[in-house]
Amino acid sequence: MGIDTEVPLIDGSRVPYVFLDNGASTPTFRHAFDVMGEFMPFYSGVHRGTGFKSILATQVFDETHVIAGTFVGADLTDNTVIFVKNTTEAVNKLANRCDWKEGDVVITTMMEHHSDDLPWRRHARVIHIGVDDKGYLDMEQLREAFAANKGRVRFLAATGASNITGIINPIHELAEIAHSNGAYMFVDAAQLAPHRAIDVLPDDNPGHIDFIAYSAHKMYAPYGIGVLIGPKEYFSHGEPDMVGGGVVDIVELDQVAWSAPPAREEAGSPNVPGAVGLAAAIHMLQSVGMNAIAEHESTLVNHAIEKMKEVPGMLIYGPVEKEELHNKVGVIAFDIAGVPHAKLAAILSVEAGIGVRNGCFCAHPYVKRLLQYGEEDSQKVTEEILSGDRTNLPGMVRASFGCYNNIEDVDRLIDILHRVARGEIKGDYELDRRSGTYWPRNFDYSFSEYFPHFSFRPTRSITNFNEAS
Ligand SMILES: Cc1ncc(COP(=O)(O)O)c(C=O)c1O
Repeated sequence: MGIDTEVPLIDGSRVPYVFLDNGASTPTFRHAFDVMGEFMPFYSGVHRGTGFKSILATQVFDETHVIAGTFVGADLTDNTVIFVKNTTEAVNKLANRCDWKEGDVVITTMMEHHSDDLPWRRHARVIHIGVDDKGYLDMEQLREAFAANKGRVRFLAATGASNITGIINPIHELAEIAHSNGAYMFVDAAQLAPHRAIDVLPDDNPGHIDFIAYSAHKMYAPYGIGVLIGPKEYFSHGEPDMVGGGVVDIVELDQVAWSAPPAREEAGSPNVPGAVGLAAAIHMLQSVGMNAIAEHESTLVNHAIEKMKEVPGMLIYGPVEKEELHNKVGVIAFDIAGVPHAKLAAILSVEAGIGVRNGCFCAHPYVKRLLQYGEEDSQKVTEEILSGDRTNLPGMVRASFGCYNNIEDVDRLIDILHRVARGEIKGDYELDRRSGTYWPRNFDYSFSEYFPHFSFRPTRSITNFNEAS
């Protein structure tokens, strides 16, 4: 939905929007929206209502769990599908529900989104496995970390695909290493699930993924729901992560009997329309075929990287050689030498109608590593940021493709990158030091023409431009 929306440019013209920020959130599948529309007349409380609509909605809601689980090949005899808000909440829940012991260790990677790093830090000693200059995980270091922490590692937590370089991790090989060391394997599939078929493999396979999480809003169903899948057994002991209605079998004034999962972990009234949207989006992805999607996105990535290499001053982070690109989802991080990343992102928006993202993409350590920041550079920037000056915020620009993007979208990006490299810039861009963002003087979008329902602030007052995922 909305992929042909016309947007204004700085010269007063309008062009169809090219959205290349699918790694953040994708547009909605029309099918998901339509199926939600068909469901809404029956929308009703689930699990406790006795009327026709409640019974229908309950069955629909239960079935959406099955659809979300089978999408990644989970065996639902022994595993449960828990609906959460998003991947971030899933990792927090998983970490909160572990029976941690003094000295426990979690091994994760330097590639992680903060969502698969910070939740673990609250409970255990976290070891971050390094990456090489291109951003690939150092497998040797991983094995050494397990050897050095024998018997203490509870989880190996790794992203399925990087939200910056697009590198796909060898998740089953990682799972084998984790299992042979008595640890659980968790995969953050937020960036993998929209792009590649996932199979967590049977529970008794050494490469089995014990826990996996993904977000609906990154797979064409942006209705505030995410998924956490893992063994029923894991969630069957101890107190639920969040308590309240829906998580109990019986409550006395002085005792509580918790329900079985997933109900035990889905406190409060659930997001039933979100679950319907997610399940419909999954059906759509399955009918198109994940392999067809992977092939199409691979064509876009190959074309984009080949053409980007011809842009003077272009710096591309992550894999760029043809033979490595099959192992990368449709995410490309780049810079043009001499052009601040925040300025480049603003130019793409107001001079070409292209939506991208810039900054550190909620993965600060990985971005700094790719930019080859030393300890001293890092410290200096941290001090500047803490003093309220984000001028030198580390970062890059990211173009991320969805299954609906096409070669023309990529060519629009390449065209503006060439123009920027030649210095053919129309706006007079001004830096806001506080936010680290650039915006052309005397220009703003007239958003209320497009969406008249709410009021809008001037764009330059948005201080938080760089910090969203
Ligand atoms: C790799 C990765 N993990 C986790 C997340 C967090 O996802 P959410 O914001 O849906 O919780 C993101 C979001 O960009 C991501 O790219």
